Amino acid sequence: MLRVIVLGAAAGGGLPQWNCGCDACRAAREGRLAPQTQSSIAVSADGAHWVLINASPDIRQQLAATPALQPQHFPRSTPIQAVLLTNADVDHIAGLLSLREGQPFALYATGRVQGVLAANAVFNVLDHLLVPRRKLALDAQQPVLDAEGRDSGVRVEAFTIPGKVALWLEDPAAANFGSVAEDTIGLAISTADSVGRLIYLPGCAALPADIKARLRPGDSLLFDGTTYTDDEMIRAGLGNKTAARMGHLPMSGEAGSMALWRDVPLAGKRFIHINNSNPVLLPHSPERAAIAAAGWQLAHDGMEFSVE
Ligand code: MLT
Ligand code: MN
Ligand code: ZN
Repeated sequence: MLRVIVLGAAAGGGLPQWNCGCDACRAAREGRLAPQTQSSIAVSADGAHWVLINASPDIRQQLAATPALQPQHFPRSTPIQAVLLTNADVDHIAGLLSLREGQPFALYATGRVQGVLAANAVFNVLDHLLVPRRKLALDAQQPVLDAEGRDSGVRVEAFTIPGKVALWLEDPAAANFGSVAEDTIGLAISTADSVGRLIYLPGCAALPADIKARLRPGDSLLFDGTTYTDDEMIRAGLGNKTAARMGHLPMSGEAGSMALWRDVPLAGKRFIHINNSNPVLLPHSPERAAIAAAGWQLAHDGMEFSVE
């Protein structure tokens, strides 16, 4: 069995976002809607050893809210054995800076994302001797090991998915802003005894048949829920980018994620990385009713579930 804790269910910016006065952000500020931190999950095979997927800028708050991830021993320790990255977006890597303090753990990412970290000297706050950088193999299952090489019990298979280079690395002159295949990955996460896997795709720009074909009945899906419609940020006056421009697939429409996943039998379908512009956040909205009717749950901070 794989245990899963949602540490952060929001997209970049969080809910509320510091500079946003939209309906959802105002409701979160006024206590009418539960605030959500930026996207990250923790997974474990035994409830004692944990692996983080992505390191959110809100990681300090997330760890403070999650007893399972806190030190269990004097003087210094952590149940966190490893951190895996699915891309180099700020909302997925900035939390690494809060994991300094001389604590060993293993850091897994594609060669491309490891290169991005290596090119930014600030990440040297994580001592390379204590925090070994490991390349995630693609299209092959591998055990997630801690810094000393001990097996965490979590297994992962990484695969490239359609996406976009991190916003802060975009090359305006290049095709798809200079994105390469290893910029964005999905993960199939399991344990030795789990039948199903957690398929984690927090940022995904399209769903070609080969990605859908990776899923098996019994798998549980945590999928990119950034926006409900492609142009909602523009229509709401919150920005000038479509979901597609940001490398995200909207939930609704015939080309949206609800339609594309409709016929794939799965043990669970949950949306994560939900932007504050997404009307599904508002509990009484027709959009929230629509995702529920389509069999989807909305992840929230502190949500726990298991994959059998
Ligand atoms: C995204 O998911 O599109 C990024 O997190 C955007 C950002 O870095 O702000
Ligand atoms: Mn993001
Ligand atoms: Zn907002």
